[in-house]
Amino acid sequence: MTARLVVLASGSGSNLQAIIDACERNRIDASVAAVFSDRDGAFALERADRHGILSFHFSPSRAETRRAYDQQLADAVQAMRPDWVVLAGWMRILTSAFLDRFPSRVLNLHPARPGELAGVGAIRRAFEEHAAGLRTTTGAMVHLVPDERVDAGPVLRSVDIPIRSTDALADLEARVHAVEHELLVDVLIDLCSDSPSLLPSHSASFSEVRT
Ligand code: GAR
Repeated sequence: MTARLVVLASGSGSNLQAIIDACERNRIDASVAAVFSDRDGAFALERADRHGILSFHFSPSRAETRRAYDQQLADAVQAMRPDWVVLAGWMRILTSAFLDRFPSRVLNLHPARPGELAGVGAIRRAFEEHAAGLRTTTGAMVHLVPDERVDAGPVLRSVDIPIRSTDALADLEARVHAVEHELLVDVLIDLCSDSPSLLPSHSASFSEVRT
C-alpha cells in the first residue's frame, strides 16, 4: 500500500526534493501528502508548490507556548493521515505534545554520526574540529524521534563521511548533503516497502544512542 509521508522542513528543502523525486520515480512506494514549515518563505514550501503538494507555513507566533504550537501542528499533520512524519531540516525541538501523537512514526535526519554534534551547524562544527586536528570523519544519520532529546533516538541507519585535508567548508557541506539525500531516500524505500528491515524490532543492528 502506498505510504503517505508528511515532511517538516525549516529551510531549503533539498532533502525534501530528494524524497519528492524518489516518490515520483516510484523508488519509494509513497507520496508526499503535505509539507509544513515553521518559517515563512522557506524554499521547501516552494518546492512542494512546484510539485502540487499541499504546503503550510505554520508560524510559531500562532501559539503562546511550545506545547500549544505542537498540539496545533499535530492536529494539522494528523489530518493528513501520515504513515511517516519526516523531519528534513526541521529546526525546532518537538515536545511530547507532538511526538506522543505519532509514536515510532517520526524520523529525523541529522548531518553527523550518532551521538555527535547535536543541534544546529553540525557540518560547520565538524569542519572546525577537523581544522583543529580533532577529527578526520563526520557522518549522517536517520533516527526515530521518541522524545525531546535533540538529534538522538533509535538509529535506523548512519554512514561515516571522510573529511579531506583539501576540503573547504563548502566541499564538506556538498559531500554531506549528497550523502544525506541518498541515505534518507534509502531509509524511506525500506520503511515504505512490504517488508521493512530497518525498524528496531526487526533489526539486529539496531542501536539506541543517548546523549
Ligand atoms: C540537513 O543537512 C539536515 O541534516 C539538517 O538540516 C539540513 C537541511 O537541509 N538537519 C539538522 O541539522 C537537524 N539537527 P535541506 O533543507 O536542504 O534539506
